[in-house]
Amino acid sequence: MKTVRVGFLGCGNIGCGVYGVLKEQADRIAQDEGLRFEVGPILVRDKAKKRKSDIPSALLTERPEDVTDNPDIDVVAEFMGGVEPAASLIIRALRGGRTVVTANKAALATRWNDILAAAKEGGAGLLFEASVGGAIPVIRSLTDSLQANEIRSISGIVNGTTNYILTRMADAGLSYAQALQEAQQLGYAEPDPAADVEGYDPVYKLSILATLAFRQHVPPEAIAREGITAVTASDIAAAREAGCAVKLLATAKRAGGRILAAVRPERVPVSHPLCGVKDAFNAVFIDGSACGEMMLYGRGAGDRPTASAVVSDLIRAGHGGLRLPPVHGEAEVCGGLPADGIDDE
Ligand code: NAP
Ligand code: HSE
Repeated sequence: MKTVRVGFLGCGNIGCGVYGVLKEQADRIAQDEGLRFEVGPILVRDKAKKRKSDIPSALLTERPEDVTDNPDIDVVAEFMGGVEPAASLIIRALRGGRTVVTANKAALATRWNDILAAAKEGGAGLLFEASVGGAIPVIRSLTDSLQANEIRSISGIVNGTTNYILTRMADAGLSYAQALQEAQQLGYAEPDPAADVEGYDPVYKLSILATLAFRQHVPPEAIAREGITAVTASDIAAAREAGCAVKLLATAKRAGGRILAAVRPERVPVSHPLCGVKDAFNAVFIDGSACGEMMLYGRGAGDRPTASAVVSDLIRAGHGGLRLPPVHGEAEVCGGLPADGIDDE
């Protein structure tokens, strides 16, 4: 049996969910994988705060270096959120040779080149399945299952909060404000929900997906962005009349030597598989040169679906032998898509 020592950076919704799943599945993971996880120290802002999981207070620290610079730790798992100080702590841990598992798409997308360089410098692994699509294994699919393909396009519903809001407005007649409040209560929204409703969160996720799909860096600032704050009940009703639903789509496609990339609300015809993706579910529709069209679907937000992806990364880190994703230079990106969106050629 191998013992894997994991330090956490952050222990809110996701950190507590990961702690709970590791504890609940400990014996099965030990039997199936030959790994025992020992968690701690755990960095938080306020040690006195009440937490969802039953976490021994002796494991908590308010000093980041207790985790990032700790010689007893094999893997650093980051669930703080936001770009800073999360990105700097990830970089510090990687430079010190510790494998990092993160759910933080904002830090990863914004500091992609710095984080990858730190992983190379430290000879460390970097795993981020939970950063896009919650429980859906979309990162692993792109890096480890679809290598035979030249990916032509990738289009998805990658924000659970906005999909939940649009579904509740369309199916239950809720106002935008009521639906957002429900999404926050269910733990789907970012600490600042503007990241969801203004489209920043899906832009970060599209940056990560497009970079892996096209194997060239697609920075978030090059992606066109429009959120759902201007979508009204009458837009949704008019779309329904036309046999469509309004969805916040994140789409990137090859066009000659360039990549077109945008996040924006679009009318999706009922005949398209993405139309049936409701509530906080996410789906990613991929068109590859050998696989053709395929769609990955599942729960895109919430503590346990996200913990499913994080614990899978921790198990992978525990087994070692990690390689960094192959990404060759910067893509030439045009932040926009043709007006007819999802069905255009
Ligand atoms: P959260 O509930 O706000 O938790 C953040 C945690 O980080 C808290 O424990 C907080 O400490 C700690 N923290 C934040 N800033 C800190 C600082 N400067 N110093 C020390 N500790 C700090 O956030 P969450 O919902 O768990 O999200 C965490 C990450 O997972 C984010 O990157 C998010 O995008 C990502 N994610 C979330 C979901 C989801 O469904 N919510 C799904 C996939 C990925 P205190 O507890 O003491 O305040
Ligand atoms: N706030 C994000 C969402 C969490 O709603 O999709 C999952 O990344």
